[in-house]
Amino acid sequence: MSDSKTVVHLVAGARPNFMKIAPLWHSLTACSWAEPVVVHTGQHYDTNMSATFFDDLGLPAPDHNLEIGSGTHGEQTGRTMIAYEALCLRQPPDWVVVVGDVNATAACAIAARKLCLPVAHLEAGLRSGDRSMPEEINRIVTDAIADLLWTPSPDADENLRREGRPDQTIERVGNIMLDAYERLRPRIEAAAKSAAPGLQQGGFGVVTLHRPVNVDSKEQLIANCDVLVALAGDLPLVFPVHPRTRAAIDRFGLQDRFSHPNLRVVEPLGYVDFMALVTGARLVITDSGGIQEETTYLGIPCLTLRDSTERPITITEGTNELVTTGTLLSKARAALKDGASGARRPDLWDGRTAERVADSLRRHVCQHV
Ligand code: UD1
Repeated sequence: MSDSKTVVHLVAGARPNFMKIAPLWHSLTACSWAEPVVVHTGQHYDTNMSATFFDDLGLPAPDHNLEIGSGTHGEQTGRTMIAYEALCLRQPPDWVVVVGDVNATAACAIAARKLCLPVAHLEAGLRSGDRSMPEEINRIVTDAIADLLWTPSPDADENLRREGRPDQTIERVGNIMLDAYERLRPRIEAAAKSAAPGLQQGGFGVVTLHRPVNVDSKEQLIANCDVLVALAGDLPLVFPVHPRTRAAIDRFGLQDRFSHPNLRVVEPLGYVDFMALVTGARLVITDSGGIQEETTYLGIPCLTLRDSTERPITITEGTNELVTTGTLLSKARAALKDGASGARRPDLWDGRTAERVADSLRRHVCQHV
């Protein structure tokens, strides 16, 4: 390796990306050979969807913000590719790391690979099998072209092998999100006591819903709302509402329907406040990807309102269960009665994934020079 540092772009676009790049940024910053550069595509831009996470996670302000903003998938992906390509032409990095499965992930992987820049995908190999999800398309595209595939679990390794990715490109490193949790655990635990004012620890549920399939149609949103209101009679619920969901509630005029004394509809929370809330929850209802993993790590029952999951290990080993709008109420009542017995933390979900990723990257950097 030469004396000059290896410039590594850490690309993030949307909320679930920030807790994946932060531990890696901290790890690489401590390595004498690496210069991590944070590239924010600007897909998420509200303070409470973006800047708060940078503050909480100890990330510096992005070195580059592409300010892509909202749009259709084509607009968002296309604008990101154009802007990221221009950045890479002006100041080419030595390596590009993309994370997760949002539009920024696939867009930047494509732009970088076409410039023959080496790309690593962190959280590679996850598959829901549901190609109607935009995230599934982003996963497949990114994994097909990335040079290095860092996976969180054995099912991910299997998926990649089945798709013909060579063994030497696949490295299981574990789940980096939990590094973010472990780094901030003292602050999260301190904040947990006051995370849900007036509610007892272990005496409330947390809800997050934002997938198009759950919130974009009026009928589906009403059906989900009615189940939540019914469940709120058994267990107070706190519901930090994603901007997509907030926009749908307003568009369909459903504000009154969501108003129930035991259903607290609040603004999206920062990382520490959200994890503090989850830490004290008896039950979580979600359609997010990452929250399925965080609840498995914390041993909290999780009901996922989706037909499939790209994170099956959270079901086979963890606390997760798939539900439909029709089964949610009965499954929630059963979970309140039975809790989450027999669950365990998957291997390598240990808060040390960022170190393994940094080691892996260093080995590959040496091979490339
Ligand atoms: C995106 C990701 C999804 C991830 C989710 C987490 C894709 C395809 N989807 O979905 O995988 O689970 O982020 O949040 O990349 N908006 C705001 N303020 C913001 C961001 C978004 O008001 O800071 C609004 C947008 O204008 C848009 C809606 O929220 O109307 C959806 O945003 P978008 O980034 O398109 O997708 P998400 O549904 O957030």
